[in-house]
Parts: sequence; structure tokens; C-alpha cells
Amino acid sequence: MKKSLSLIIPILSILSLSFVFIFYLKVDSVASILVVFSLAVGYILFYLVKDSKRLSLSMQSLTVETQMKQPVIPVRNLYSIESYKHKINNLNRIIGSYDSYTMEHNKEVAKLTLLLSDKLEIDDNTAQIIYYAGLIHDIGKIHIKDEIINKPFALTKEEFGLIKGHSERGHEMIKRVEGLESLAKPVLYHHERWDGTGYPSGLIGFEIPIESQVISICDTVSAMKNNRVYSNSKSKQQIVMELIYQKDKQFNAYIVDKMLEVLHTDEYDKL
Ligand SMILES: [Fe+2]
Ligand SMILES: [Fe+2]
Repeated sequence: MKKSLSLIIPILSILSLSFVFIFYLKVDSVASILVVFSLAVGYILFYLVKDSKRLSLSMQSLTVETQMKQPVIPVRNLYSIESYKHKINNLNRIIGSYDSYTMEHNKEVAKLTLLLSDKLEIDDNTAQIIYYAGLIHDIGKIHIKDEIINKPFALTKEEFGLIKGHSERGHEMIKRVEGLESLAKPVLYHHERWDGTGYPSGLIGFEIPIESQVISICDTVSAMKNNRVYSNSKSKQQIVMELIYQKDKQFNAYIVDKMLEVLHTDEYDKL
């Protein structure tokens, strides 16, 4: 309703002004109609191009509940990914030998994904893929020096570029490990944002695989609930406020609602 008003009101204004132009100033009517027509068409095109991304996002939100249950990435069956769990746990231990915080963070994110997948009613196979991808989602950081990862003050542009590259590096590493190929894409897109301003690809809305959307919000919650050298941990109430603020910005609003339910469970408090 609000969107159609914002389209109709300016068109009516242009038409009214045109009638004044034609009847009171006695300007040639054919030329005036052409001017009016051009202005109206120009405005409509401008409006449609400017808001096309936002409109498509809000239309996607209407069907979010059904799409949540449909994984974008083809999954290996439960037994095949489960049979590689020792390999995946060993990879996270290797991450721990470089940076113990990242190893613990990966474990926490993985546990959170199980709680959230349950609330989203994601099927078991996909939930397992998300869990194991969560367990190694920051593996690309092992290429980055400890001084940069744990820098207590602002990063330089180059340092931030290195940090941003970790999702692509992680993807490159994981896709080469036999049996773990289905974990590569969820890792690649775990820093994409619902509004299209994330990285590495600037995917928007449902272009972001559901697997990555789940890891992304669990990643953010884990980061907020723990102390880092550059930021203090946030209270549960602060986390709730931040998640609500990020609805339709960083995250899909429906997933935020389900994450808020997770935050109020005993399992979350035991993490
Ligand atoms: Fe990350
Ligand atoms: Fe992370």
C-alpha cells in the first residue's frame, strides 16, 4: 500500500501541474501532453530501477517459510558426511593449533546451527551439512597472521582485505578434500548479507544458500556472546536487540525470529 502510494502520488501531482500548465497558461496541448507523458514514464522507470532490489526482497519474504525447508546446495547423504566426521574434527583441531579462539568459536557455531536448524525444521541431511560446515567455517583464517586476527584496534584496508578473503580461501581448501565437497559452498557464502552488502559475492536474499544463512547468524551470535580483544561480550538482551535491528539487513527476518526462539532455550544457556 505504502509502495503504491509513493508511485501514485507523484504521478497525480505531475498530472495536476500539467492541467494548470495547459488550461491556465494556454500552452499548446499536444506538446504539453508529450511532456507530461515523458515525465510520468521517466518517474516510473526511475522508481522501478531504484527499488527493484528492495521489492524483490520483500516478495521473497512472503514465501520465506516454505523456502527455508529447501536446501539450495545438493547434499550428500547423511551417512557419507557422518563418515567423514573424524576428518572434519581433525581439521578443526588443526585450526586450533593456529588459533584456539577460532577452534572454540567454530564448535560453538556448529552447536548453535543444530538448535536453529531444529527451529527452522530443516531436514536432517541438510542440518548435518550445516553443522559440519559450521565446524570448519573459518578454516580460511589459518592463512592469516595471529597479530592481524587478534589486533585490538582498527585494521588497515589491506588487513581487512586479508580477513575478508578467509571465506574464499576456506572454500578453496575444503572443496579439495575428498568427501567434504558439499561443505565448501556453505563456507564460501557465510559472510553474505540478506540485503546484498556482504562478501565475497554480494548475493542478495535467497541467492544466499540456506546453509550459509544459518551459519551466518550463528556466527554473529557466537561473536557477540564472547569477549574478543577488540570488543566486549554482549548480554543476551543486547544480542536480541542487535538481531532485531538486523532484520532484512544482515539477516532474513524469518531466520531472526527463529534465532530469537533459540536464545530463549535452556540448550542455548548451556552453550
Ligand atoms: Fe568467518
Ligand atoms: Fe566465524
